[in-house]
Amino acid sequence: MDAVPLADGEPAGQQPLTEVEVATYIVAAAVWAPSVHNTQPWWFSAAGQELSLHADAGRQLKVADPRGREMMISCGAALFTARLALRSLGYVPRTSVLPDPGEPLLVARLSWQRRAAAAGYEQRMYSQVRRRRTHRGGFDPVPIPLDLVALLQEGAERDGAMLRIVRNAGNRAVLAAAVQTAERSLQLDGMYARELAGWATPPGSARRDGVPHTAYSARPEFTLPDFPGRDFARGHRWGAAESSRSAAPRSAGLVGILATAGDRPADWVNAGQALQRALLTGATCGVAAALHSQPLERAGLREFLRTQLCDGAYPQLVLRLGTATQTAVSVRRTPASVLFASGGEHLTISHE
Ligand SMILES: Cc1cc2nc3c(=O)[nH]c(=O)nc-3n(C[C@H](O)[C@H](O)[C@H](O)COP(=O)(O)O)c2cc1C
Repeated sequence: MDAVPLADGEPAGQQPLTEVEVATYIVAAAVWAPSVHNTQPWWFSAAGQELSLHADAGRQLKVADPRGREMMISCGAALFTARLALRSLGYVPRTSVLPDPGEPLLVARLSWQRRAAAAGYEQRMYSQVRRRRTHRGGFDPVPIPLDLVALLQEGAERDGAMLRIVRNAGNRAVLAAAVQTAERSLQLDGMYARELAGWATPPGSARRDGVPHTAYSARPEFTLPDFPGRDFARGHRWGAAESSRSAAPRSAGLVGILATAGDRPADWVNAGQALQRALLTGATCGVAAALHSQPLERAGLREFLRTQLCDGAYPQLVLRLGTATQTAVSVRRTPASVLFASGGEHLTISHE
């Protein structure tokens, strides 16, 4: 994020927020980051003008994600959102990613002292943090402007990742086939299916995590080529009823792979930051994204995509981008349930 300096002493807002209020503001935004199966695998600790972001291994998908790769991508997305929240307050975040090799679950430390007004694009991205939703289904047959594609690719590079667009029809079909194969194989894997069931919440559930039935359609939509979504409903008649959904296949949209040169936890955090930057940038232009991590949860398919479609870079997420009417509703845990003082106690906000 770029910082446009404020004139000396110029306040960014009306009344300066207390440290606890700033921490709460950051976390209230960060929880709206995307996460695999909406596991929200994070918690935060605050001390003065410093906030630490921790991965919550208790929320890791032990079957689908044994290395914690998707957990760290999710935390990276929360980190980008936290940085953006600080920018929206007119602070310049200082970020240290994986600062302590002895504490691999400490994803990042963020501190804020210097002030600088947020740039217009940062404010626009921030305005989408709570509005953006993962899309599941097809897109309108409208191409994405080339300058937006270039912006998304530049953004990914700034976060240490790359967004590889798969334009060639043959390669799109290959990628779709990888998603289809993975989805079929995951559905046949009992351990995986049980784990997914634990995060696909039934209608009427009061849970504030997991994928609610309001987040996907009761009638899965086919795309050309077909990129099947996750089977969250698993034979139950769950999902939102959308009468306007057409039975004819719709466009798969612009298909891309978010990839990194390496495949270590720092690369996964980078991929998560790049993901959230891309999702929010797209959202500012009315472009939604569907995410597919199924083929990356199967080692053989991931290796195939690495060598065949990524020139040896490590694929971290498959994305489809396009315009569509979105009705998905998601849920999140409250900031109070994930933010603690560094001593471990819950933080309360003082309003003096
Ligand atoms: C690493 C990662 C992998 C994901 N994989 C999928 C996926 O395979 N299929 C899917 O429908 N959504 C996927 N998602 C999106 C999450 O399900 C979504 O972010 C979460 O349910 C919260 O909903 P929201 O993004 O609409 O706020 C993934 C998100 C992340 C960060």
